[in-house]
Amino acid sequence: MNVLLIGSGGREHALAWRLAQSPAVDRLFAAPGNPGIAEEAEIVPLDIADHDAVHAFCAENDIGLVVVGPEQPLVAGIADALAGIPVFGPGSAAARLEGSKGFVKDLCAAHAIPTAAYARHGNEGAALADVERFGLPVVIKADGLAAGKGVVIAETAEAAHAAIADMFGGGFGHAGAEVVIEEFLTGEEASFFAITDGRTILPFGSAQDHKRVGDGDTGPNTGGMGAYSPARVLTAELETQVLAEIIDPTVRAMAAAGTPYVGVLYAGLMLTADGPKLIEYNCRFGDPECQVLMMRYRGDLAALMLAAAERRLDQISPPEFAPAPALTVVMAANGYPGTPAKGSAIAGLADAAATGAKVFHAGTALREGALVANGGRVLNVTASGASVRAARDAAYRAVDRIAFPSGFCRRDIGWREIAREG
Ligand code: AMP
Ligand code: GLY
Repeated sequence: MNVLLIGSGGREHALAWRLAQSPAVDRLFAAPGNPGIAEEAEIVPLDIADHDAVHAFCAENDIGLVVVGPEQPLVAGIADALAGIPVFGPGSAAARLEGSKGFVKDLCAAHAIPTAAYARHGNEGAALADVERFGLPVVIKADGLAAGKGVVIAETAEAAHAAIADMFGGGFGHAGAEVVIEEFLTGEEASFFAITDGRTILPFGSAQDHKRVGDGDTGPNTGGMGAYSPARVLTAELETQVLAEIIDPTVRAMAAAGTPYVGVLYAGLMLTADGPKLIEYNCRFGDPECQVLMMRYRGDLAALMLAAAERRLDQISPPEFAPAPALTVVMAANGYPGTPAKGSAIAGLADAAATGAKVFHAGTALREGALVANGGRVLNVTASGASVRAARDAAYRAVDRIAFPSGFCRRDIGWREIAREG
C-alpha cells in the first residue's frame, strides 16, 4: 500500500518514522514534510490546502491511506474532499470537536459529560454581563481554531473584560466571533488518546505536556515544550472512568448525529477532586505528545490507521505500548513563542542520535546543504528509559550533544513525575 502523510512538524516526523516501519507500506509520501521526514518518506510538493490537487495526487499514485497530522486541514474538510480514499482523520463535521469550543461544550451538556460550567456568547455586551457568575479566575476562550492561543485565564474582572473585548475586536480573527466563558478548574492536567472508527474505541495511551515556555511552568503558553508518556497520574481506574464518562458518550453522540468521528481523539483532561473533567478535545495527535507515544507504540501503525479509516477497528487487537516511559525535550528557536529567529545553524544531530535518542525534526530546513532552524519549535529530542528520570537523563544527554546556539530548551521536563518517582 502507498501512504500519503500530511503535515510538516515533529508530530509528523514521528508518524513518518513509525509508518515507514509498517510492513504493509510500499511507498510513503509526505507533504509538505521537513528534512527529518525526508529521511523516511518521499517529499511531494503538494499544496495541502488545495484538496482537489491532493485528491488527484492520491489517484495518480495509488494511495491506499492518507494520514492527516495537523488540525487545520481536517477542520477545513480534507477528509470529506478525499471521499473514496481511506483517510485517518475526521471529516469537517466531526473535527468540530476541536474546531468549535462551543460545539464541544453543548455536546458535553447534552450528554452529561463532565466538563467546566460554561456559557457561549456571540456578542460582546452579553459576554461582558455574564463574566461575574463564574467567579475568579475565569477562563475566556475564542470559539474557533486559534493555534493554541485563544485561551485566556483571567485573574481579575478587568482582565476578563479585556480578553472579551480583544476577541470580539478581532484579536483572534474569525475564531473570536463567538466566545466561551468557563469556570476555572483546578487539578493536574493529563492527555489521553483514543483511536476510533466511529464505533469501536481503542485506548492509545496517555501523556503529560509542558505548555509554559519556562522552567517551573513559568512564562507564556506554547504549543508544548516537552512531554512524557505514560501519564501515571491517569491510573488504570481513572482511564476506565474517562473512557466510560467522556470518550464513549462523545463517540456515540457523534455517530448518532450522522457525523461519526474517525481518527485519533485527544482529550485534554483536568484531574479534579470531583474526578476527571474534559478541558478540550483535539482531532489529531498532540505535538509533542505524539513523539513519546510513537517511541512506546509496538504495533503496526499503518495497519491500525487503515483499520480505523475502513471502519473495521473491531477486527484489530488493542494497541500495545512498551512499559518503559519515553520523554521528549523540545529545542526551540530564541524568541519562541513570539517571533522565533529563523535560519540559524544546527549541528551535532548524528552525535545526539549516537546516544540512542531519537531526534525528530519539527521546524528545520536545509539551506545549501546545511541544517537550519525554520520555525519556533525546531527539534524534539526523544528517549526512553526504565523510569521517567532515566528517560529524562537520556534525552538531555542527547540535547547536550546538539549545537544550536540560537536555541533553547526547558531543563525540567518530567519534573512532576520525577518528583513522584522520588
Ligand atoms: P487549550 O488551548 O484549550 O488547551 O487551553 C490551554 C490551557 O488552558 C489548558 O491546557 C489549561 O491549562 C488551561 N485551561 C483551559 N480551560 C481551563 C479551565 N476551564 N480551567 C482551568 N484551566 C483551563
Ligand atoms: N501539545 C499540545 C497540543 O498538541 O495540543
